[in-house]
Formats: sequence, structure tokens, C-alpha cells
Amino acid sequence: MTETGKRIEELRRQLNYHNRKYYVDNAPEISDFDFDRMMRELQDLEQAHPEYADPNSPTVRVGSDITSEFRSVEHRFPMLSLGNTYSLEELHEFLARIEKEAEGAEYVCELKFDGTAISLTYEHGRLVRAVTRGDGTRGDDVTANVRTIRSVPLVLSGGGWPDLFEIRGEILMPYTSFDRLNAEREEQGESLFANPRNAAAGTLKQQSSAVVAKRGLDCTLYQLAGDRLPHESHWENLQEAREWGFKVSDHMRICRSEEEVDAFIAHWDEARKQLPFPTDGVVIKVNRYADQRALGFTAKAPKWAVAYKFKAEQALTELLSVDFQVGRTGAVTPVANLEPVLLAGTTVKRASLHNAEQIALLDIRLHDRVYVEKGGEIIPKITGVELAERPADSEPFRYIDRCPECGTELVRYEGEAKHYCPNQNACRPQILGRIIHFIRRKAMDIEGLGEETVELLFESGLLKNVADLYDLRADQLSPLPRLGEKSAENIIRSIRRSTEVPFHRVLFALGIRFVGETTAKYLAGHFGTLEAVMQATREELVEAEEVGDKIADAILDYFADAGNRRIVERLEAAGVRTEAERKQLLSESLAGLQFVISGKFSRHGRDELKALIESHGGKNLAAVSAQTDYLVAGEKMGPAKLKKAEKLGVKILSEEEFEQMIAAAETTRTAGEEPEAEAADRSVEPVQGSLF
Ligand code: IVH
Repeated sequence: MTETGKRIEELRRQLNYHNRKYYVDNAPEISDFDFDRMMRELQDLEQAHPEYADPNSPTVRVGSDITSEFRSVEHRFPMLSLGNTYSLEELHEFLARIEKEAEGAEYVCELKFDGTAISLTYEHGRLVRAVTRGDGTRGDDVTANVRTIRSVPLVLSGGGWPDLFEIRGEILMPYTSFDRLNAEREEQGESLFANPRNAAAGTLKQQSSAVVAKRGLDCTLYQLAGDRLPHESHWENLQEAREWGFKVSDHMRICRSEEEVDAFIAHWDEARKQLPFPTDGVVIKVNRYADQRALGFTAKAPKWAVAYKFKAEQALTELLSVDFQVGRTGAVTPVANLEPVLLAGTTVKRASLHNAEQIALLDIRLHDRVYVEKGGEIIPKITGVELAERPADSEPFRYIDRCPECGTELVRYEGEAKHYCPNQNACRPQILGRIIHFIRRKAMDIEGLGEETVELLFESGLLKNVADLYDLRADQLSPLPRLGEKSAENIIRSIRRSTEVPFHRVLFALGIRFVGETTAKYLAGHFGTLEAVMQATREELVEAEEVGDKIADAILDYFADAGNRRIVERLEAAGVRTEAERKQLLSESLAGLQFVISGKFSRHGRDELKALIESHGGKNLAAVSAQTDYLVAGEKMGPAKLKKAEKLGVKILSEEEFEQMIAAAETTRTAGEEPEAEAADRSVEPVQGSLF
């Protein structure tokens, strides 16, 4: 081996070692500075000598922007779920049953980590694949993303591992990473993750592994699967896996009686509040594999394990008052002001009350002592009232009937639990909310204009709606507090630049009720121009994917308003994009044909199939109708859909048949006229790897 090769090997060995010391053992031996220096040296060497590339090099931890396709792959051993209970009595019955069938069984009690399950495959001591649980039989291949998680060993240390094995565990987002992520998202005007579990799962499905690398995920392993594991018990194998470099929890115990199991649970129900990552229970597993085998499985879960789930933490405190917030769509949200109280690690002062019905249902009254819980949502919620402590003179809560901001009478829309202020065009928080939504990064991405500046511009009469933005001049902005000439000019430039954002983002930016980012994309793709969306009838609108009656009505309402139409006209005049960019097609072979994709596919993701259809000029529909030409049917598609397709005489294609159809299209293209565009600038996303 050359000197360079040797140096690369040595650096990788050292970096792997120190990585483990830091992220798995929590016992770093060198400074961050020295670690970074070695990492940089390795990066430079690898860049200069691509012949030494290795997917398991420690440099892959930083991730890359190459988008990863999440291929669906089959699990070698199915990933089962766990039976669970909230009741100690049921748990005791479970233990008694085990004792009957496997006398003297030992239990391993572990924490139930609240993240997202992962299965890692190692071949000859090297990570080869990481797959999500999926439906238990098949999951998504997220290897590129998992390689960036520092506590996952890319290359094992020590020895004695089987040539091929899987190890399963939980990808977690520690509270510190979660808080940092949400703070960043809030600043960028992006939607927040409701809890660390959603954030971990969402992050794992990120397209760019460079983004994953920055989010601070962690991975704890709790189960081995393979044909030649070194030991005959769960406990021994996990302890050994720790030696190989895996992060295996220290918070596990062997228990030999109901009392010991109960003590473990009682301890962690309290002690978990101090842990830096979320847990939602305790998992109790039979330790010896011989006993596990004797107990066996049900269709869904092992009979040798169960999860005891902790009840959500609650706190009792006084409801001081209720505020009513009016959002940009006019929706009114009641928010409770509480006597500050400590709950799951943070002080809670406010809680969501959702809507009038919820308040009436729980009969919540001012100055009641109320129970607060942190559920799946970001804001804690009130889950009940301590009636025993209700003051004698308390009266039922009276909900407001007029907008707290503009005094307009509130309305209820059919099927909507919330009250709305209908005064869209003159109610301050609605106007400001719409402007702030419009300039968000995911919408028109206008930088430099914060909420405060928007409010100032509104007060001074310069900004009454989003179209006014395009009439602003730098000399009107520069006198405002904290702005000055330079930032004023930057803002104007940023406004001008916003005329370049693609049409679907303009559609999202308008802030039509229920039209989120995804719906806006479907609408833009389906109709192509703003004019077409505006002209569309209800029947035509629901033809677009994801658009149902509710969204269609909201779109019709929006464009029925003369003020809104005037704003749209002015935006158009300002040069904002109102047409979707035409995609460069690979061929027109599917032009005029309408497809419905349904079920799960073994070789492609559904989006991948849809992109293929579009790139050959075909159209994707959400539901089977008489207009559908082909139904591409995967596994586990709904029988109703299949029946409907058969009844309507829609042709049904398997994944293989569809592949043949596309392959034929591709040949036609190569044999016939080659479109002018080079492969590199096709606007269709290139599909990674060989397609068929
Ligand atoms: S063992 C066959 N151990 O809980 C048993 N699961 O509700 C497989 N989980 O999908 C799971 N902590 O994502 C096991 N210490 C632990 C766990 C754990 C969390 C999750 C896991 C599983 C889910 C089942």
C-alpha cells in the first residue's frame, strides 16, 4: 500500500476510535480541535485520492446534498411490534403467564425509548444497511442518513461478531437537539415539530443527509437478530454488542420477580424526568432465547415481551384568564393563561383550549384548578378540571361572539370546530398575518422584513396588503427604526428577487385557507397557471390531487372576493410568476393518458413512479374514475379501488408491466428524435442508480 493509503487508513482508525469515545462512551480522550484537524486531513486526502473512497469512512458523517431515494427493502427478520399496557395488573398477568410456561424465567427490563425504530445490518463488521420499520415486513432504506449519526458505528471494534447480523434500536432526538431545531425553525418561519419523536422520524426521511448530520440524532440499540449470535441470551448479546462499539443503554436490569420488575418501573417513572432524551415506558423481555422460543409469537408481536407505558405527566394549576388569538385565516383560538407550573422539565404558563366546544365539554371555568398535560402537540393542553376544588361562586365560561380585534360578529363554518372572524380585509391580525405568511422563506422568501417592520409599515399606511410590497421604495423604508439605507435597499432587492420564486410558492404565499405547500404544488402542477386556477369550477378543482370539497370551497371563496382578485392582478403586474415552468419531457409517449398509482411497490417509491409518468407526458390522478386509462397496482392496494377499476374497464398494470411500458417509451425516444436538452439539465429529477 502507498504511504497515502496507509495514512488514510490510520486516520480512519483513529477517528473511529475517538468518535466512539466521544459519542458512545461519553469519555473523550482528545480535544475537539485535534479531532477536527484529523478529520480535515482525511477529507483532503480522500478528495485528492478518490481511489480510496469508502462508504464507511468517518468523513461520511457530515453527509451530502445528494438526494437519497428511500428504496423499500424487505426485512430479513420481520420487525414486530410490542404488546403494551398502562396497567400494572395486566403486566402482572403477563408475568404470571410466562412463569407458567417458562418456569424460572429471567426478565430484562429496559427503557422504552420514544423515537423511531431502525434495523442496522452489519457484514464483516461494517455497516451495510439501515432500514426503518415500515410495515414490519418492508421498510425504507435510509442508510445514507443513518451513516451521519455519530453514535452508529460504521466499522465495529474488537471482534467476535457474526459475519452477518442485524441490530435494532431506536433513533432518538435528545431534548437539546430538539429545542435547538425548533428554535431555528421558528426563526425561519417554518412549522415546528410537535415532539422529539416526530422530529427524529421526520429527520430520518430527509432528502439531504447533510441536513440530517446537523440535527443531532442519537441511536440506542436494544435487540440483536442473526443466525449465529455469540450468546444464548438477550442480555449477554447486548453487553457484548456494547464492546463492538454500539450504544447500549446502561439503564437496564435483569429482574427475577414481579417485585423487581415493579421496582424498576417505579424508579424510572420518576427518574426518567431527568433523562436528556424522551422515554415513554419500560419494556420487559424474557432473557433466555430458549425461553423466548418456547413462548413464541402472535401474528403481530412476541409473546415474550411487553411494554408498560407511563402515563403522560400531569400538573394541577389555576386557570387565571383566557385570551383569544386571531390567526391570519381569521380562526379564533382560545389560549389559557395559567398560574406557572413545572411540567416535564419546563415551566408552563399557557395552554391551548382548542375551541368553544372543548371548553364546554370539559366545563372549564375561570379560576378552576385544571390538569395540564404535554401531549403530541407543542403547546400543553388542559385535560380536565379538579371539580372538588371549584370555587362555590364559579359560573360556566361564556365564549366570545365578537372578534376581540375588530368587533365583527364571529361565524362558524360547517364542519369546523373553530369560530372565525369573517372580516378578512379589515381585521388587523388577519392582514398582518397574511403579509407575514407571504414573505416567509417557504413562500416568497423576502429577507430583512421582520414582523416588527411589517407592523410599522402597516401602521404608517404604506403596507395594507401583499401587493403593496411591490410598490415600496427604499426611501420610504430607510427612516424606519433599526433600518437605515443599506438594509432598506436590501429589502427592496429581496422584494424584487421574490418575483422569481416558482408559481407554486406564489400560490402558497397567497394564504388561501387550507392551501398548504403540498396542495399548492399539486394545484400548480395540475392547472399550470393562476388564471386556470381562478377559472376552475368546483368539479375541476377536486380533480387535482389532495384537493377535496373543503379546499375547493376555500379556493372559490378566495377568488370570489374582489379585493383578493385585485391583489392578484397587481402581483401579476409586478411580475410575480403566475405560470408553472414547463417541464422538459423525456418523451411524449404517455401524453393524454391518465394514471392512478396505488399500493406498495417492490422496486420503486410511489413518487418515483409518478415522476416517471409525468416525465413521459402522462398525468397522475388520485382516484380511479371513468377518465382513468391505467391503474398501476402494487401490493396491498385497497380492494375497493381494484373493484372500481375493473368495473370501469380501467386497464390494470403490475409494476413489471408498467416498467415494460416505460422501457418501450425510452426506446422510442432513443430511436426517434432526441430532445435537445442534455441529460444534465433535464428538469425531471434524475433517478439514482439504474432504473430497470
Ligand atoms: S424491543 C420484538 N426494546 O417500541 C420486540 N422496543 O411498541 C421489538 N422501543 O417498534 C422491540 N424502546 O420502536 C424494544 N427497549 C426497547 C424499546 C423498543 C422503544 C420501540 C420500538 C418498537 C416499539 C414497539
